[in-house]
Amino acid sequence: VTGAAGFIGSHLCDRLLGAGHEVVGIDGYVPFYPREMKERNLAKAKASKSFTLHETLIEKADDLPSILKGASAIYHLAAQAGVRASWGDDFAGYVEHNVLGTQKLLEGAVQAKVPRLIYASSSSVYGDVQELPLRESMALSPVSPYGVTKLAAEHLVHLYGKANDLSVTSLRFFTVYGPRQRPDMAFHRFLKAVRDGQPITLYGDGEQTRDFTFINDLIDVLQCSLVQGKAGLVYNVGGGQRISVLKVLEAIASVTGREVRIDRQEGQKGDMRDTLADTAQAARDLGFIPKTPLATGLKAEWEWICS
Ligand code: NAD
Ligand code: UGA
Repeated sequence: VTGAAGFIGSHLCDRLLGAGHEVVGIDGYVPFYPREMKERNLAKAKASKSFTLHETLIEKADDLPSILKGASAIYHLAAQAGVRASWGDDFAGYVEHNVLGTQKLLEGAVQAKVPRLIYASSSSVYGDVQELPLRESMALSPVSPYGVTKLAAEHLVHLYGKANDLSVTSLRFFTVYGPRQRPDMAFHRFLKAVRDGQPITLYGDGEQTRDFTFINDLIDVLQCSLVQGKAGLVYNVGGGQRISVLKVLEAIASVTGREVRIDRQEGQKGDMRDTLADTAQAARDLGFIPKTPLATGLKAEWEWICS
């Protein structure tokens, strides 16, 4: 599991270890957010005898083939995440971690003869389109530099899959939330502000919508994709409905029982207006059915933020 110490990677490690797998994690502790948070994410996995961690940046690792040798599959989750931070000088990090890192990993996987790779792609590869829901077959035109690097890496994954004896599947995750969520993401920021009696920052008019996906639902489908999923295909993974940010704030007031005060700021460059996943393909091939209602997922994240 690359990106093992991150939000999604650490949940995936816990799930795979719980299912009896031996898990090798790779994480370079990119300083996008504090290392201590990532250490906490990985505490449970690190307590397991079946878990090993290699602390390295993929693109800088010269011993990748030996790290990867013997793996039955690679989950490639390591990336510089964050849509709104991907402009300006910081873009270099997105290229290094997301594009160069992915290419280096693919070379290592081929050399180590790993048979399968599952890539964490993103709804951000779509950009703003005329009609919803977003289907895997649609034209892709990202509106953020981050989305461009996620799409470049997705292309690399499928190119290496075709050119080699490597079965690849990409899952396009739609705005994931729940315990351990990254501190730059909306729900984390909103819940922390509410806990601390601070106003939340609202970008734009709040009518933008997202198909928010609860972490456990995503981990279910990641686990299935170890053995299911057609080689070379791409699957959307979304929560099943879209909701505006303003409606999320109402739900937060209801779940937390606290007042939500709003500090309005300008809309952010690179933000998609709306997302909604067509998940028919993931339902068909991966048995994916999102199960967690927003209020349930929000409550779980609220409890984590308050813990
Ligand atoms: P995260 O930042 O919490 O986790 C990513 C981890 O990867 C971090 O611990 C970081 O240190 C590590 N990392 C980054 N680049 C690395 C490199 N080159 N070498 C080694 N380690 C590296 O992010 P997350 O939210 O858990 O996202 C995981 C993956 O899912 C990413 O690929 C992201 O693009 C994708 N994704 C996330 C969401 C979401 O809503 N969180 C949605 C769509 C796609
Ligand atoms: C999220 C992840 O951060 C990306 O890594 C991922 O690739 C992407 O989902 C995806 O689905 O592909 P985003 O949808 O921007 O990106 O997620 P949030 O940070 O949760 O933002 C949701 C909405 O809330 C955005 O419209 C954002 O502008 C808004 N927002 C965010 C605020 O109004 N205030 C904030 O403080 C933060």
